[in-house]
Amino acid sequence: MKKIPLFFLLLFGPVAMAQEQQATAGFDWYSLLNDLFFWMFFITFVLLILTLVTVNRAFNAIKELMTAQKNAIQSTEVEAEEQVMVEARPSLYQRIMYALTKAKPIEKEADIMLDHDYDGIKELDNSLPPWWVWGFYITIIYSVIYLLHFHVLGTGPSSIEELERELALAEKQKEEYLKTAANLIDENNVQYLTAEANLANGRKIYEQNCPSCHAIDGGGLVGPNLTDDYYIHGGSIQDIFKVIKYGVLEKGMLAWKDMLSPAQMQDVASYVKSLKGTTPANPKEPQGTLYVEDENLEKETSENTTESEQLSQN
Ligand code: HEC
Repeated sequence: MKKIPLFFLLLFGPVAMAQEQQATAGFDWYSLLNDLFFWMFFITFVLLILTLVTVNRAFNAIKELMTAQKNAIQSTEVEAEEQVMVEARPSLYQRIMYALTKAKPIEKEADIMLDHDYDGIKELDNSLPPWWVWGFYITIIYSVIYLLHFHVLGTGPSSIEELERELALAEKQKEEYLKTAANLIDENNVQYLTAEANLANGRKIYEQNCPSCHAIDGGGLVGPNLTDDYYIHGGSIQDIFKVIKYGVLEKGMLAWKDMLSPAQMQDVASYVKSLKGTTPANPKEPQGTLYVEDENLEKETSENTTESEQLSQN
């Protein structure tokens, strides 16, 4: 009776883990056994059970002691008898240890003494401790199950499949990382991306949002001509990005930071920059100041581009 709650406690941890797994990703023994928390729970519960058993044992010992004392007060005759009984009956601990080791008590060692004598060192013919024998049987049973599961029935994942699973997971994590990395772009680290994918994406964003004021080919309408060498706010990729991000509200240029993601703004800024030098159908007269590319800066930027081009393409 006393063992039943213990048993449920022992089950609780792993079952809770399994339930959680089921709720999130569908039940999967493979990932359950790979789960660090599962093993932490498991070990904790085993330790807990051991603690409970020990405490229980201590209580029993105290109880026995108290009974013995009570009897001692009652009668010295009975006391002697009881004392013998308490001593004769092995404690739970002794019984467990005996079941695990089958070790002969020292008084009976003579029975199993072999006649080997090496300079006074003698040999006992102890039987193999049951804990060890059980462990050995368990490994045999486990090896059969393992063999069937992974090599005969093929129900378990092969090493290659495990590798693929882990690579897929890593790929997913990388994607998630790049997504956040792409959104960390601001006017300080924005890059002029000349890769086709980026320019195509920038063009799409431009054609959806900007022609009403800058004309479809960037020739300019209400907004300035984006194809000439003159810029009101500067022609570097950082300047263009900044104007797109924050707008020039009092002049009618919108702030796009709430409508476009940083990566999208980087792409459209790159597209706008790529428009420079093209010939629109109806070019608006130049506004602002002449912008001359800083060769050194450009070189620096384009060296850095490759990495972030890959970032935003991914
Ligand atoms: C509602 C009209 C309007 C829309 C839509 C608009 N712009 Fe503008 N844009 C302007 C005006 C007006 C200016 C000039 C601001 C000034 O005079 O300071 C401007 C300026 C700019 C500049 C700075 C040019 C320079 O000479 O420094 C860039 C770059 C630019 N816009 C890009 C874009 C992009 C990219 C889009 C689409 C995502 C866009 N704009 C959408 C009206 C608009």
